[in-house]
Amino acid sequence: MKISIIGSGNVGTALAQGFLKAGHQVAFGVRNVSSAKSEKASALIVGAVFKSIEESCLLAEVIIITTPPEAVLDLIPLLGDIKNKIVVDATNSVRTKPEPYATTFHAIKDLTKSEKVVKCFNSTGFENMTDPIYPSFGGIDMFCAGNDKASKSVVQQLAKDIGFAECWDFGGDDKVELLEKFALSWINLAILQGHGRNLAFKVIKR
Ligand SMILES: NC(=O)c1ccc[n+]([C@@H]2O[C@H](COP(=O)([O-])OP(=O)(O)OC[C@H]3O[C@@H](n4cnc5c(N)ncnc54)[C@H](OP(=O)(O)O)[C@@H]3O)[C@@H](O)[C@H]2O)c1
Repeated sequence: MKISIIGSGNVGTALAQGFLKAGHQVAFGVRNVSSAKSEKASALIVGAVFKSIEESCLLAEVIIITTPPEAVLDLIPLLGDIKNKIVVDATNSVRTKPEPYATTFHAIKDLTKSEKVVKCFNSTGFENMTDPIYPSFGGIDMFCAGNDKASKSVVQQLAKDIGFAECWDFGGDDKVELLEKFALSWINLAILQGHGRNLAFKVIKR
């Protein structure tokens, strides 16, 4: 698929590496191609393409937001016509939020009126997105939420393409904040409780 990743930091770089390895076309959409983060991503990823945010979105089928949450308010006018595109919110409103909205997802939905908005790639650390495989357990799990089932199913496949074993559907728009709380649960265990960032969630059933 043609994927635009807005932001070239920890999460953007991790996802871009996985998508490129899986054979997708990836363009970073950045505000500054010479920023320290863009230069680091460019050095790490062979064949990385950097464009302006507007240009990166033009041909994209999927746009993934990997910036601080409040940046979405600046980004919306730059995304262009997203009627036929899926927009993925990978951010967490932990320290800041896109006021007056609770999350980036809510801002995108309200300001663009698009139904094709999916929350995903927010619930684990970027190291787990770079390498979702744990020796002896296999792939860890990813989680998503949003109202549009067809958009979610595209994003679920993208998660599997980069090595997640499963991408569980948390439910509709009403579960987006729960998914951010789920991310906070990971942050709590990994960072606040000191278990380290090589820790991940996997659903088991019987
Ligand atoms: N770090 C994690 O493990 C993790 C895991 C899950 C979700 N998240 C969420 O993912 C998001 C990104 O986290 P990160 O760790 O990847 O952050 P990061 O390394 O600081 O990267 C943020 C990127 O966003 C860009 N950016 C900032 N403000 C912008 C604006 N107004 N317009 C356009 N681009 C802008 C930055 O551009 P410049 O290069 O120009 O500064 C940078 O490329 C956050 O919302 C975070 O909560 C993080």
